[in-house]
Amino acid sequence: MNIIEVENLSFKYKGAGRYSLRDITLSVKKGEFIGIIGGSGSGKSTFCLTLNGIIPHSIQGTFEGNVIVAGLNTREHSVAELSTKVGLVFQNPDSQIFNMTVLEEVAFALENLGVERDEMWRRIKWALKLVGLWDKREEFPPNLSGGEKQRLAIASVLVMKPEILVLDEPTSQLDPMGKESVLNLIKLLNKEEKITILVVEHNTEFLLENADRVFVFSDGKIILEGKPENVFEDVETLMKIGVRIPARIRIGYELKKKGLLKRATVSAKELKKALKLPQT
Ligand SMILES: Nc1ncnc2c1ncn2[C@@H]1O[C@H](COP(=O)(O)OP(=O)(O)OP(=O)(O)O)[C@@H](O)[C@H]1O
Ligand SMILES: [Mg+2]
Repeated sequence: MNIIEVENLSFKYKGAGRYSLRDITLSVKKGEFIGIIGGSGSGKSTFCLTLNGIIPHSIQGTFEGNVIVAGLNTREHSVAELSTKVGLVFQNPDSQIFNMTVLEEVAFALENLGVERDEMWRRIKWALKLVGLWDKREEFPPNLSGGEKQRLAIASVLVMKPEILVLDEPTSQLDPMGKESVLNLIKLLNKEEKITILVVEHNTEFLLENADRVFVFSDGKIILEGKPENVFEDVETLMKIGVRIPARIRIGYELKKKGLLKRATVSAKELKKALKLPQT
């Protein structure tokens, strides 16, 4: 079953000279883990904003085509309604946190939803335990580390019980430990909670190991799409648009150019064999 259907989507911001998204058609299956990459200004964030209806409802412009999430056409449903289907997380956790305690922060998201108290409490506990912040529920959010703040922002959308989670560079402002904790959480949400994930992420090593498919944006279009090992095989196209190539692929690519490998995307074992390194 396709949980996301995008048909001939184009978008131009009001007053902008050119389209930021150009004729995008794609579908995502329930439970898939999608990585989104592409150069700066290629339309990744704009695309994310179309998935929960912020575009076209809150940001003005020329919107063409259709985005259907969990069976709802975003044109016909409000952002509030769509936010129970699609959770959106941005790169700066500070801009997403407003309350005095961790607990209040996640409760706040549910207050306007009309969820009954018992259910509200169940969801809060579930979300905070899942992101590893249950023991910090009384903390003042500004005192949390960057990684903890981002996991709190994720908990605040999880309490809405979304089927889809869209994360736009959720680790780009975090230290290495924070990055790792957020990436591990994203993996867990997909594998254990079966949430469909779309994540814009510069850590291409992570996407190579974990994504089911990768979408590559360039100039408002998707120019490459598929399993990570096939997408990353096209090293030259990715280098041209400024995408970081995973270290293992960079080495594989050099060996392929020398005729020592048939593909750049080979396993660590095959890489060692081609380099005549001992297998451990
Ligand atoms: N609010 C806006 N008004 C007008 N143009 C915008 C607006 N936001 C983005 N754009 C333009 O739309 C295009 C796509 O931008 P977008 O932010 O979606 O790219 P991105 O791939 O997320 O880039 P980055 O990697 O820098 O985050 C760019 O040309 C950008 O200048
Ligand atoms: Mg962006």
